[in-house]
Amino acid sequence: MTKRIGILTSGGDCAGLNAVIRAVTYRALQGFGWKVYGIKQGTRGLLQRPVSFQELELETFDCNILRMGGTILGTTNKGDPFSYPMPDGTLKDRSEEIIEGCKMLNLDALIGIGGDGSLAILNRLMKQGGINFVGIPKTIDNDLGVTESSIGFSTAVEVATEALDRLQPTAASHDRVMILEVMGRDAGHIALNAGIAGGADVILIPEISYQIDNIASKIRSLIERGRNFALVVVAEAVKSEDGRPMTIKDIDGRERYGGIGHYLAERITEATGAETRFTVLGHVQRGGQPNASDRVLASALGVHAVDLIAHNKFNRIVAWQNRKVIDVTIEEAVAKYQAVDPQGTLIRTARGLGICLGD
Ligand code: F6P
Repeated sequence: MTKRIGILTSGGDCAGLNAVIRAVTYRALQGFGWKVYGIKQGTRGLLQRPVSFQELELETFDCNILRMGGTILGTTNKGDPFSYPMPDGTLKDRSEEIIEGCKMLNLDALIGIGGDGSLAILNRLMKQGGINFVGIPKTIDNDLGVTESSIGFSTAVEVATEALDRLQPTAASHDRVMILEVMGRDAGHIALNAGIAGGADVILIPEISYQIDNIASKIRSLIERGRNFALVVVAEAVKSEDGRPMTIKDIDGRERYGGIGHYLAERITEATGAETRFTVLGHVQRGGQPNASDRVLASALGVHAVDLIAHNKFNRIVAWQNRKVIDVTIEEAVAKYQAVDPQGTLIRTARGLGICLGD
């Protein structure tokens, strides 16, 4: 029987989304002769009438889509369908409209690519509507405990590492302390991995509290042994020394992380007298070409997601563990949040290298 499957990307974009859309389409069309419908702008496409979608064909991917950043389908990280902000300022439950949108496409199953928040919402929606659902994990934050790596994380770490590679020579040329603020929402995985790979002297993550005095001692010890620069990586979710969240408010009232790099630059200058500069890497970490690891991961997860549908296994998420793809229930996946383990291997590695973690 020819199945009709839908696919959408949800939440913040990242590198590797097009690779996974391609993998799903290739497997579904070549392996089973099914039809694949790409839904536009995440759940927003399902709220539109007519539903906003495009049929995905093998030819759709004949150009360089595998190599491209972003998502050809578009995505959204706003508007919880159960509490959707309306133009008049009220909140409305629009879940039934989304379910109706899926039914209009006559889908046998939906594949959703998202982080923990999006996957939990999609799973709830599809359960409510009795629609078969399979999730694929993506997030540069890499905070889903069920998978060793989420799509987009590896590329984000590579971008942050390259930033350190570029900051080091200019830091050394000007005798400066360079501070690199990286993303990661509430987890320090990008900061820790890029900091180790990029030769950082100090790595600050939200999972470990810090004192400016400890950072200053580290910088002084570097200067004493003749070093004329230092590299500091800080995760955006790190708070001020006295515990204030460093956030900025958008014009629409939404708060997001921002400001810790600037704050640290000032505190480090005060404490050491060193000249500091800070760089906020921001969305550069999400855009651009996916690296090889993310393309491989996306391909493996995409193929396995389609195979789950072929085996009538639903309400599950595919994940990477111990060199292979596994699948678990969505509930199990979203319940297992994975921040950096302060006793884990990479923290021990950083300490072993003499990197200051601020504590
Ligand atoms: O969750 C992914 C992420 O990139 C976080 O690391 C970051 O805090 C956030 O999204 C930024 O979201 P936005 O694109 O809405 O600014």
